[in-house]
Amino acid sequence: MNQSAQPEAAAPRVFIETYGCQMNVADSELIGAVLRRAGYAAAVSPEEADVILLNTCAIREHAGDRVLGRLGDLARLKHARPELRLGLLGCMAQHNRAALVEKAPWLDLIAGPDSYRRLPELLGRARFDPAVDVRLDRAETYADIAPEHEGGVRAFVTAMRGCDRFCAFCVVPYVRGRERSVPPEAIVADIRGLAARGVKEVVLLGQTVNAYRRGETDFGRLLRLVAAVDGLERIRFTSPHPCDMSDSVIEAMATEPKVQPWLHLPVQSGSDRVLAAMERGYTVEEYLGLVERLRAAIPALALSTDIIVGFHGEEESDFRATLELMAALRYDSAFSFKYSPREHTRAFKLGDTVSEEDKGRRLAEVIARQERISLERNRGLMGERFAVLVEGPARRGNGMLAGKTPQFKTAVFGAADSIKPGAIVTVRVQSATAHTLHCALV
Ligand code: 5AD
Ligand code: SF4
Repeated sequence: MNQSAQPEAAAPRVFIETYGCQMNVADSELIGAVLRRAGYAAAVSPEEADVILLNTCAIREHAGDRVLGRLGDLARLKHARPELRLGLLGCMAQHNRAALVEKAPWLDLIAGPDSYRRLPELLGRARFDPAVDVRLDRAETYADIAPEHEGGVRAFVTAMRGCDRFCAFCVVPYVRGRERSVPPEAIVADIRGLAARGVKEVVLLGQTVNAYRRGETDFGRLLRLVAAVDGLERIRFTSPHPCDMSDSVIEAMATEPKVQPWLHLPVQSGSDRVLAAMERGYTVEEYLGLVERLRAAIPALALSTDIIVGFHGEEESDFRATLELMAALRYDSAFSFKYSPREHTRAFKLGDTVSEEDKGRRLAEVIARQERISLERNRGLMGERFAVLVEGPARRGNGMLAGKTPQFKTAVFGAADSIKPGAIVTVRVQSATAHTLHCALV
């Protein structure tokens, strides 16, 4: 929450911890706004908070394990200060509510992604008995609540919520509910406010963000509406689904200069057999055709992806097909995961056929392969110039600045003090690793 506004002395202080994806980061900003309206103030640390909320993720088992560990730590805080209220929000709340009540009986509040509007009321009730609210609401978009965005040159703005695709492995449709789009006016108003505050880049968010549709406004049209906001320099979006990559979206990317040449286009597998079992809705050939069209329309495009190894029924030959796809497409970067069976999903009943050992080996191979490709690609950029949106000091320090190229690559460069975050500067690449371009200011 915004810490500059002065809360009244008695305002209860709330600390929000966020786990998981960018959607959760954006939801925590929304939760901050809901609680601020209800008279809560932001706590700087869990120790000084009256309320601690964990906004959680359920995508893989590992995400849940981390939160359960954290809940154990917080139980000790609560033991020392019984008036402290502890809440668990988000996808894990929706997914595991029954198990959570059992595993963490000290929780005061369990609330799912469509219950945030009711948090003040739920927290009020939680003073006496644990409050549980995991109703999904197919119309809730929180369009009337302006999120309390964190500071910085980039902001994340929710364009649509939920997912209707039901990929066989994925728990999202069960925990975030049906797909619904935020009205374009609400998105544009939020982004106007951000631009007026000096934000230069927005990332539009949704589980299948390019499936966005509200009345006559499809995602291509939304990109153009956002691009018309004065002061905003750059637009990205994540994550699109390959099946929703319409001509309207490709054309907006190709012709609207503010829409950056970067696309995170999850493929999941390079085997048709596995893609069919995953119920992804496309074949390898169709995906390759889409990338070809994208690269023809947007020559500067950088492409990243998500890959799952060890899905139910994945044979060595299927896995080899994934490696071949990687070699053919040469992604700029990739996130890869071991398949984690999730209760309620269609694949859960099929079981887990690939051993942990094979999953580990396949994952390591995907990561090594991608590191090599990323390094080769980045080295291939040596001598090239890029417009970098400056974010601030580089993580490694030593007086360097860091920012992102249009392709969303991290560029690090030495610079004069006069260059401030939010500036767009031209740099030339001097050397590169798989994850960073080392540059000189031009
Ligand atoms: N196991 C492993 N990875 C998963 N993802 C989604 N569900 C699972 C699962 N059950 C991955 C997909 C998706 C990304 C956000 O997380 O690759 O694109
Ligand atoms: Fe999950 Fe598939 Fe929806 Fe993405 S498109 S959120 S992988 S069900």
